[in-house]
Amino acid sequence: MNAKTRLVFLTGKRSFILIVWMFICLFASSCSMKKNNGPDFSELVTFSGQQLELLAENTEKILESGNNVNRQGRLLVVPRNLNEDGTLRLIPSRDWVSGFFPGSLWLMYQYTGLPRWKSLAEKYTLRLENEKYTTTTHDLGFMMGCSFGKGYELTGNPAYRDVLIQSARSLITRYNPVVGAIRSWDHNSDKWQYPVIIDNMMNLELLFWASRVTGDPIFSEIAVKHAQTSLASHYRNDFSSYHVIDFDTITGEIRNKHTHQGLHHESAWARGQAWGLYGFTMTYRETGMAEFLNIAERIADFYLSHPNLPEDLIPYWDFNVEPGQGEPRDVSAAAITASALFELGSFIPGKKQFYHEKASAMLASMANKYRSAPGGNQGFILAHSTGHKPHNSEVDVPIMYADYYFLEALGRKNNLDKSNNN
Ligand code: GLY
Repeated sequence: MNAKTRLVFLTGKRSFILIVWMFICLFASSCSMKKNNGPDFSELVTFSGQQLELLAENTEKILESGNNVNRQGRLLVVPRNLNEDGTLRLIPSRDWVSGFFPGSLWLMYQYTGLPRWKSLAEKYTLRLENEKYTTTTHDLGFMMGCSFGKGYELTGNPAYRDVLIQSARSLITRYNPVVGAIRSWDHNSDKWQYPVIIDNMMNLELLFWASRVTGDPIFSEIAVKHAQTSLASHYRNDFSSYHVIDFDTITGEIRNKHTHQGLHHESAWARGQAWGLYGFTMTYRETGMAEFLNIAERIADFYLSHPNLPEDLIPYWDFNVEPGQGEPRDVSAAAITASALFELGSFIPGKKQFYHEKASAMLASMANKYRSAPGGNQGFILAHSTGHKPHNSEVDVPIMYADYYFLEALGRKNNLDKSNNN
């Protein structure tokens, strides 16, 4: 090889190496983009659809077998969770979790457009209709908002609208102007005079909606007052939340700051932090009032920077339990939080990317480490949620609301990713 030929050969070899190197870089960056971008939307929607079909099938099998009433004689209508022995637990429409199965079916309809999901969602939604007159719980927002509310958003069915307006009317019967809040529970009246729980923030969405569609400001006025009372009374200096605030109905003063589902009165029950984050983010969306955005941002800071939050971002059931001691996680808290963070990021441009990355990483953890095996867990999508640890109830099991907020978060992420790519 003469000098000239050697030069051409070496230049060609270098170019070849350069081209191969460029391909490696491109491949690596596309892999890491995929990783940073979180889980694959269509794969998870397909998987979730297969699971929810199975859950509906298993629900109907139980009902057809004649086991269709609970101990109080109420008709069982939808799935709630798995019992410790792996059997499926169904609940009546009165249960606070009743809206999440129809809600999940509506989300499947929203994501796929398939008529099959619409008809399933309609069937299970209608089973809850009687609850529109219920005035013994604050949970109507969860129950009716996720079922009829989601259905109305997707179909515009005027019958759903009427059910929702009546539900909002029933909910505001629980408002006490002296306290400035909606009463959460009627149970444990020996302990609490007027308990208001942080979870109640979630039920306000139904009230904001009702004011918008009826033009009557009463619903949103109550919702704003409730949120202000909750902001002033549920939060500690570090922006963690108490679970239950008990008020005096004559003076409106706080009597007790308690927990019901957390580790102890001064602890930060994981799902309570998630409800507060989601609830105040939604209340900011509905009102534009800066105080609600500020608290939501502080709650997110508390949650995301907590030293006991595991690396995979799925919290223990309470932030105050000792990490690494085998305490159960609460996947539901992570699902609610992920969904809330996607929305919160859209209100705080400087933190949008940070929240998006955290929420996407939470979804990736759920999809990779905490989901059911295909065809497993009777059709629930996710495992490892914790309902009420102090009562040893629903510990480390699949629970319907984890699936609902997981699906909602997936949709929010997909919309954000699509708009970022345009
Ligand atoms: N709202 C009741 C709970 O989160 O368990």
